[in-house]
Amino acid sequence: EYRFDPTTHNKFKEIMSTIPRREDAWVFDLYQYEGFWCNSFQLEGMLSAREHFKPQPNQVIVSSTPKSGTTWLKALTFAIMTRFHVDESTNPLLTRLAHDCVPFIEVNLCSSPQKLNLDVPLVATHIPYTSLPKSITNSSCKIVYICRDPKDAFVSLWHFNHKTSAKEEVSAMEDFPLEDALEFFCQGLTPCGPYWDHLLGYWRASLESPEMILFLKYEDLKNDTVFWVKKIAQFVGYSFSLEEENKGVVQKIIDLCSFEHMSSLEVNKSGMVRLELGITQDGVNTYEFKNSAFFRKGKVGDWKNHLTPEMARRLDQITEQKLAGSGLTL
Ligand code: A3P
Repeated sequence: EYRFDPTTHNKFKEIMSTIPRREDAWVFDLYQYEGFWCNSFQLEGMLSAREHFKPQPNQVIVSSTPKSGTTWLKALTFAIMTRFHVDESTNPLLTRLAHDCVPFIEVNLCSSPQKLNLDVPLVATHIPYTSLPKSITNSSCKIVYICRDPKDAFVSLWHFNHKTSAKEEVSAMEDFPLEDALEFFCQGLTPCGPYWDHLLGYWRASLESPEMILFLKYEDLKNDTVFWVKKIAQFVGYSFSLEEENKGVVQKIIDLCSFEHMSSLEVNKSGMVRLELGITQDGVNTYEFKNSAFFRKGKVGDWKNHLTPEMARRLDQITEQKLAGSGLTL
């Protein structure tokens, strides 16, 4: 979890004053650092994580770009890793946003006033692979990365942008025309973008160290959830026993974390989440939005309802160019 410290804050302010900045994209200004665009609070949090983050023994890290299935992967991994010490009926996922159960290392995003007191070595991040704290890359942490078809991720980001922009009185189109948003996305101007570079960083690292990084695709997880949930469990060192499989434990976890179930929970329908934007003289500066912003459709291929064939082709072309020779296909 993000920790404020004055030394890092001063370093952050110094960096901020010299790096490229864009004020016209998405909800918050973007800053370019080490080849990636990020929001100011992500940058400060990342610098802080580099100073302070100390992995626990058997630390597991869930990583992704925003809108690739982070919330789902957090829920699944949390349910897998806590299944021996939390009861089905009292699982924190039933009463808390998944982001409360699995904190980001660089951002404070909390929905519940009480901190969860479960000692699970599980955290999350959106930090690009090449900018991760050395304490992670030089250790034996296991990283589970999830990526998604850029067309769906783009559409998801566009909706999320509107839901969190607090401009409920106008339509999403008026708030940020889809064409303009696409232009930004294609230019790499998204939080944690360029989108493709984020994927490629983790993809290459996963090829180099397959025992450290498990590279997943949202679409695969949707199509064969049982297989991939077992794979995640095995990878993080929490394999399901035959007895558990026979008792239907895998399916129970999948059902608990399904889009239908998660999005129908009261906490995810009506709760509010607070994002910490930084600390000023007046205290912590926060930004609030609804937990429901994290749950929209949860489908593969919803881009077809939003993008024209030309828009889709444009994204596909960039994907083809960027991923050429990498061995990764989306
Ligand atoms: P859509 O906007 O396409 O519906 P992230 O968690 O990285 O912010 O990504 C959000 C996307 O994941 C949204 O996609 C959201 O609906 C979807 N999502 C959230 N919870 C999910 C779940 N339990 N299963 C599948 N998809 C889920």
